[in-house]
Amino acid sequence: MLSRASLRTLTVSRHFSTSARRETKVAVLGAGGGIGQPLSLLLKSDPLVSSLSLYDIRGAPGVAADVSHVDTASEVKGYAADQLDQALEGVKVVVIPAGVPRKPGMTRDDLFNTNASIVRDLAASVGRVAPDAHILVISNPVNSTVPIVAETLKKLGVFDPRKLFGVTTLDVVRAARFVGEITNKEPSETPITVVGGHSGPTIVPLLSQNAAAKGVNGEVYEKVVHRIQYGGDEVVKAKDGAGSATLSMAYAGAKFTNSLLRGLNGEKGVITPTFVKSPLYEDKGIEFFSSNVELGPNGVEKIHPVGPLSAEEEKLLEACIPELKKNIEKGKAFVAQSA
Ligand code: NAI
Repeated sequence: MLSRASLRTLTVSRHFSTSARRETKVAVLGAGGGIGQPLSLLLKSDPLVSSLSLYDIRGAPGVAADVSHVDTASEVKGYAADQLDQALEGVKVVVIPAGVPRKPGMTRDDLFNTNASIVRDLAASVGRVAPDAHILVISNPVNSTVPIVAETLKKLGVFDPRKLFGVTTLDVVRAARFVGEITNKEPSETPITVVGGHSGPTIVPLLSQNAAAKGVNGEVYEKVVHRIQYGGDEVVKAKDGAGSATLSMAYAGAKFTNSLLRGLNGEKGVITPTFVKSPLYEDKGIEFFSSNVELGPNGVEKIHPVGPLSAEEEKLLEACIPELKKNIEKGKAFVAQSA
């Protein structure tokens, strides 16, 4: 006679592929926003998401009602401003795009004053209600908001460095696209590892490690590196006060979430850059750093070193380190000063 559990497995496996079998509840905090809405839509289309919990201080129930009509199997629920705890119940992955975006002329650091407390408070709720959840931080400045989440969870005694990620995927997406354009290749042929952090000078693309990109040099090299580092500004400028990248960011956020879910489901060899607590530059006082990370059943499985660098890349990394250090310290100090 079959146990109830094995009967359930049998029934479930008849309907879904192995990879889609896991019950994975994903929450989006900030689901009503420019990123949150298309991100929620893309996550609704991801077969690895079994349940979607959409929260915002405004508009999430409407987004949920809309997205819930898409003909995929996952359940969708929307939660209003006073329902954060309910939104977080049982979630395995929390994606955070809550907060204000840039306007022309602003740096990501200019968002600190508003977004730091939003992210701190959301992280505290996640730590209390869903302490085992994996947290994916999109809200800027990522170089500071990730340390803010870490320090907040430490205060609650629930920080697991394998489960906290700054989403830097948009830099990776842009790099593949821009380098593909200038080398006349498909972006799939020009995957570029981007290391460091997520703000102008801390974004360090490693063109020398890609066969098609390593021949790019001189002015063309300088220009494409600058475009990868400051690609966000193009969008901010073109939107002329109406915000920053939302659609490409939603794409990048959904892409990273899918990579994590594949890793959590036991798929081997899922490797992508992400901003995590990292030993790579600890000797330089850098606690968090983005490099290629292998994702596995517990989140961060293995942090890869940056690999061989060209002379130009060594210089970019040198410029990245002090800025990144400053951003990380600012985040940590903010939580230390918080009551
Ligand atoms: P948006 O203003 O369109 O949306 C933000 C949403 O957050 C709004 O719906 C707002 O109601 C909500 N919100 C504010 N406080 C909240 C709270 N306490 N709890 C829940 N929701 C709250 O902004 P957008 O364009 O969606 O950008 C969001 C963030 O993502 C910004 O900080 C932006 O800088 C960042 N970003 C990050 C990128 C990355 O590569 N990591 C790329 C592009 C943007």
